[in-house]
Amino acid sequence: MQIFATVAEGEAYARKSKLRRVLVPTMGALHRGHLELIRLARETASRAGAVAVSIFVNPLQFEPGSDFERYPRPEALDEELCRDAGVDILYRPSQTEMYTPGRSVFVEETALSNTLCGKSRPGHFRGVCTVVTKLFHVLAPHAAIFGEKDFQQLAIIRRMVRDLNFPIEIIAAPIVRESDGLACSSRNQYLNAEERRQATVLRAACLAAAQVVREGERSAERIVARARSTIESSPLARIDYVELVDAENLQPLDSLGENSRLALAVFFGKTRLIDNIRLP
Ligand code: PAJ
Repeated sequence: MQIFATVAEGEAYARKSKLRRVLVPTMGALHRGHLELIRLARETASRAGAVAVSIFVNPLQFEPGSDFERYPRPEALDEELCRDAGVDILYRPSQTEMYTPGRSVFVEETALSNTLCGKSRPGHFRGVCTVVTKLFHVLAPHAAIFGEKDFQQLAIIRRMVRDLNFPIEIIAAPIVRESDGLACSSRNQYLNAEERRQATVLRAACLAAAQVVREGERSAERIVARARSTIESSPLARIDYVELVDAENLQPLDSLGENSRLALAVFFGKTRLIDNIRLP
């Protein structure tokens, strides 16, 4: 495994490499969800291709006062996990390497970013699009893998690639979960034991919604109400949003469509967790 810490090294590699390169962008603190993305990248790149993983905790996508400082950064462990997973390139730039002082250009998606997580995290998706654009330029991958756990992020990246003509195939990876159904997340480690126990309510809410849909329910209001009441049964849970949206344009639906997603975000203390499920 080669490790690059500078833009120059990343660019030089991309210029020289004749291989099919597949990129997995991450913020590190790698867990089984990330490892599944890496596995998919290996499959997509084929044996002969190259799998690149980037680790960069991107300050631009953390809203003021959020967890940028305390976000976990287990560098040695992440490096070992990448090696074990057969990663070829680990791109791990520093803050100053990534962001030139005095920078004044950003990449902003202006429709899908205003819904769901975009409402409670102003500027978040602008930070994501900007950093992903930079990673795409430096490493020039043929394909990149994003998880369905961050379903809005995936939709926004697809839109960005389409609208700005990035010659990059975007591949979705399914949500990886803990044995009790909680979606794997670097932020799960912020939860105390009782919060962790109650955090299974996110998955329970998605499954409860899917159940009423199976029983014939089509009204978004009633599907959402079922999910909300499930979450409200957990005393420590505080709902940020629960919405039924069209999976393509992320607009709220009145009734179940062909391609609907139930998406939700729930606080436990200061920790905000998300999950989603395709319906029907
Ligand atoms: P991060 O939260 O580290 O996630 C990196 C990738 O792993 C994302 O595509 C995310 O959707 C995926 N992922 C995380 N948990 C997952 C799970 N349980 N199952 C499946 N996939 C999962 O998302 C980011 O970083 C950043 O916004 C980034 C795209 C790197 C830009 O900074």
